[in-house]
Amino acid sequence: MTASLTAYNIVITLQNQGETSPYLNAFARFGADNIGKKIIRWLPASWQLKIMAMFFVPGMSAHFVARKKLVREQAEKAIAGGIEQVVVVGAGFDTLALTLSAYYPDCRFIEMDLPSTQQQKQKALQLAGITQQKNVIFHPCDLSRSNFLEELKKIPSLSNQQPVLFIFEGVLMYVPEAAVAETFRQIATLHKDTLVLFGAMAQHDSECSFLQRVLPWLVNTVGEVIYWVCPSAQMPEFLAKSGLVLREQWKYKALQKSTDPKTPEEDENYFLVAIET
Ligand SMILES: C[S@@+](CC[C@H](N)C(=O)[O-])C[C@H]1O[C@@H](n2cnc3c(N)ncnc32)[C@H](O)[C@@H]1O
Repeated sequence: MTASLTAYNIVITLQNQGETSPYLNAFARFGADNIGKKIIRWLPASWQLKIMAMFFVPGMSAHFVARKKLVREQAEKAIAGGIEQVVVVGAGFDTLALTLSAYYPDCRFIEMDLPSTQQQKQKALQLAGITQQKNVIFHPCDLSRSNFLEELKKIPSLSNQQPVLFIFEGVLMYVPEAAVAETFRQIATLHKDTLVLFGAMAQHDSECSFLQRVLPWLVNTVGEVIYWVCPSAQMPEFLAKSGLVLREQWKYKALQKSTDPKTPEEDENYFLVAIET
């Protein structure tokens, strides 16, 4: 199985909108392990962004930039509030842990992802000659098949006596609802000050226009199937079943501060949640 196509597409979309860092450059250059990714990489920037605009939910390219900014702000806020353990699940080619680890040497950053994606990321770092900080740990994990708590216990530097910030950015839609609920239930048994920041799709792509279904359908056929969706109105009820409570939410359109009438109010919304006490 090859590493995540969607994770690679995010790297290129960010670059094509002017985002840059040694990590992004390394992943763009060395992360393309199949023909799909190579095509994405070699498309002129304006074409790639046009394809995103035509075939994905309107505003998706801007969404990637907006949510990266949000996640970084929230992570830094949590660290300023005393959190010293950040677990990024389904990290893909995300640069947050790698970047913040240099600024916050006392904080431990753990990346969890499918083994194939994680291996590709580590290989890209190696090929680019980048050595990651000692406070970044990679731990492979398939959320759909693993017992999340058992996986956390295998990470020696992670303490269950201290709170954690868990980040699930652009990943929970690929996990069946029962596994998402179980993961949340297990998180709710951890330290009471633990926080979870996650994105959830509000609806299935099948409810979008025909054009906007073509590319997601192709992505589904290469193994990235959308399982879990939850509109924001139903999120408090979903969370309550797992012992979590909503602190803050950012809807798709508001997150990007978009005034484009084509951008839907809801698509991949973001939520910050805490353990119910
Ligand atoms: C759309 S990418 C998002 C990557 C990154 N979080 C970001 O936002 O830039 C989806 C990520 O979820 C990971 N993923 C998909 N299914 C997973 C599962 N069952 N368990 C863990 N990670 C998974 C993929 O390997 C990939 O890294």
